[in-house]
Amino acid sequence: MTSDGTRAVHAGLPPARPGGSFAAGPVFAATYHLSGDPSGPYQYGRFANPTWVGLENAVGELEEAAGTVVFPSGMAAISAVLIGLTEPGDTVVLPSDGYPATRGVGAHLAARGVTVRPCRTDNEALAEAVRGATLVLLESPSNPGLEVCDLARVAELAHSEGALVAVDNTLATPLGQRPLALGADISLASGTKALTGHSDVLLGYVAAADPALAERVRAWRTLTGGVPGPMEAWLAQRSLATLQLRLERQAANALALAELLADRPGVTGVRHPGRPGDPAHAVAAAQMRYFGSVVAFVLPDQDTAERFLGALELVFESTSFGGVHSMAERRGRWPGDDIPPGFIRFSVGCEDTADLLADVAQALDKTLGTAAERADG
Ligand SMILES: Cc1ncc(COP(=O)(O)O)c(C=O)c1O
Repeated sequence: MTSDGTRAVHAGLPPARPGGSFAAGPVFAATYHLSGDPSGPYQYGRFANPTWVGLENAVGELEEAAGTVVFPSGMAAISAVLIGLTEPGDTVVLPSDGYPATRGVGAHLAARGVTVRPCRTDNEALAEAVRGATLVLLESPSNPGLEVCDLARVAELAHSEGALVAVDNTLATPLGQRPLALGADISLASGTKALTGHSDVLLGYVAAADPALAERVRAWRTLTGGVPGPMEAWLAQRSLATLQLRLERQAANALALAELLADRPGVTGVRHPGRPGDPAHAVAAAQMRYFGSVVAFVLPDQDTAERFLGALELVFESTSFGGVHSMAERRGRWPGDDIPPGFIRFSVGCEDTADLLADVAQALDKTLGTAAERADG
């Protein structure tokens, strides 16, 4: 059973047995029956839960990991790696153009004697930045700029310096890209986005190539107590079965939207790694199977961007991505990203392509003018 869609449908399910359900339901337990000297996998609710284990098996299978640890959010997963796996004297490379909260955790590392080296998601810049590093965290494609780096090449360079390599795989998901197979030590992600895909769950995970590394992360979670609720873990595993279907529709929608935008006067800076002609496409195509749901582009100014978002009828204005509902935002409404005021981060959902394009086209007509109006004026 090797194809991605089949793996996603069956990942982490218990063996079939007469009268058994296909998937186990959530186990709500703060504690377990435990006599005498502690033994067995389930001793106390903060240490382990069968519903987490089901999800960890499923995600681990898709990431091709030796060990996987689930967390209540992507930031909890990132913090476990950045804080739990570093010590004073270490040097950590973090994406300067990635999700801003990751750099926010970096600020706490700096206060604890860890040198933080911000670096763009760019092969040449990373080749310099990894020198002398102990941990390199990459985000490819990056959020929100959709830059891509050559994961195998950067991992090899970082390993030659003795550094651990972690990749934030939030945007791609394990069906879109498998960082461990490309040489990374850790693939981590916010499962809040495309992995669970319904905008109803916060979740994160750390998947490691080395079981001992996964156990270090698990020990950190047990100690610090950042554990997911069983309901969230169960919902996440339930969502995995449709991951490939969702990614396929989103891939088609993202490409169609990027093409529409690229042809539209008044729209600049269209980025989507799946679009032939995108500066990142060649590297992305060599290491990714699905290119994610996000399309980035720039409208002339803040006012135009806000009017465009207000004119969309089908697309929600919201700050996330990867879900089945199309959503978009003016990214500059948040601090932390080096982007123009009219920068739009648009995440396509699973709506019919024609409906989605029609909505974007009418919103662009309202804000930038129709072709006839442009010809007139
Ligand atoms: C690339 C990336 N990593 C991590 C996170 C954090 O995930 P969460 O919101 O689940 O903590 C996000 C959130 O947007 C993200 O975009």
